[in-house]
Amino acid sequence: MKKVFEPVELNNIDLKNRLVRSATWEGIAGLDGSVTDKAYEIYEELAKGGVGAIITGFTSVSLHDYYFDAMMRLIDDALIPQYKKLVDVIHKEDTPVIAQLALGGYYREVNGRYELVEPDDMTEEEIRHVIRQFIEAAVRAKKAGFDGVQIHAAHFFFLSRFISPVHNHRMDAYGGSTENRSRILLEILEGIKKEAGDLHVTVKINSSDFVDGGLEEDESLLICKLLDQAGIDSIEVSGNGTSVAGIKAHVNEGYFVPFAAKVAEAVSCPVIVVGGFRSLDTMEEVLNKTKIEMISLSRPLLREPDWPQKLRENPTVISKCISCNRCYATPCHKCIFLERDKR
Ligand SMILES: Cc1cc2nc3c(=O)[nH]c(=O)nc-3n(C[C@H](O)[C@H](O)[C@H](O)COP(=O)(O)O)c2cc1C
Ligand code: SF4
Repeated sequence: MKKVFEPVELNNIDLKNRLVRSATWEGIAGLDGSVTDKAYEIYEELAKGGVGAIITGFTSVSLHDYYFDAMMRLIDDALIPQYKKLVDVIHKEDTPVIAQLALGGYYREVNGRYELVEPDDMTEEEIRHVIRQFIEAAVRAKKAGFDGVQIHAAHFFFLSRFISPVHNHRMDAYGGSTENRSRILLEILEGIKKEAGDLHVTVKINSSDFVDGGLEEDESLLICKLLDQAGIDSIEVSGNGTSVAGIKAHVNEGYFVPFAAKVAEAVSCPVIVVGGFRSLDTMEEVLNKTKIEMISLSRPLLREPDWPQKLRENPTVISKCISCNRCYATPCHKCIFLERDKR
């Protein structure tokens, strides 16, 4: 019988419980990816709140990634001390931390300006450049003391578009078959394993793109199997339509569970599922009715960073998050109710 609140080993990381903070982009870094005081505050609060492990928000591998403002970026060795300080703040609470390595889009320099280039129009040299950027960011993550890295291949950001048949129509070694489209992920994984050794390497992947001609469950399952065979340490299952609105405890929680359960049957590495968990009994039901090992949370921890702590003390407290998604539009992606709570 699996319990949420029991220690668990997730391929070379020890966690005090089965809850993971799913990556949540805050938009508070400096233009060069530097870590701000606000970030130290947010991550300290999260770590103190009792979650088993933390995955950072979207951390770009490129300086010339203009997809979002104020992303963290692991792009320069000079930033390593700042990221080490962030890791230390989290480790102080006995909480492992994984850097979510991501690329919003690939930007090519043309006459001194940077233009977005989609997977179909990239040269093989540019693809190899992206692969190197992910590997080098992982090496920096290791130097900063992170316990692992997550390859962000979900939600139609660069890697998610690259592996999707609706975006990638290449006819070379990086396009066409499922194997060719996912080669970029496998080469990133192989490079990280070679150069950043004992880091836990996880991937966040779409169950489905939920668009006509996009990645669907059968193909996503095949990609998960390829990653598993190549030595990925865990897989976090998500999907487009990422943050479903109107989630109610015991009514419509855990919207990616059916697919994540299939992945967990098919692979040997641990599977993490994200998406709409708001009560302990639902999470324990999922853990016990499937081979899923971990549950990850985003909005509930924006609403209450200490929800895990509260749950441990009182297993019946449901999340106060009402899944309105208004945090997507606030500075730092703060929950709109936080200020009200303080009054
Ligand atoms: C404000 C906000 C920012 C997010 N940023 C990221 C991100 O940086 N990377 C990512 O993979 N997912 C991101 N997500 C998606 C969440 O990690 C999660 O997959 C989704 O919200 C569903 O889980 P939940 O119901 O626990 O919120 C974000 C979600 C929100 C609400
Ligand atoms: S604004 Fe607050 S209540 Fe609404 S979805 Fe975001 S975290 Fe949940």
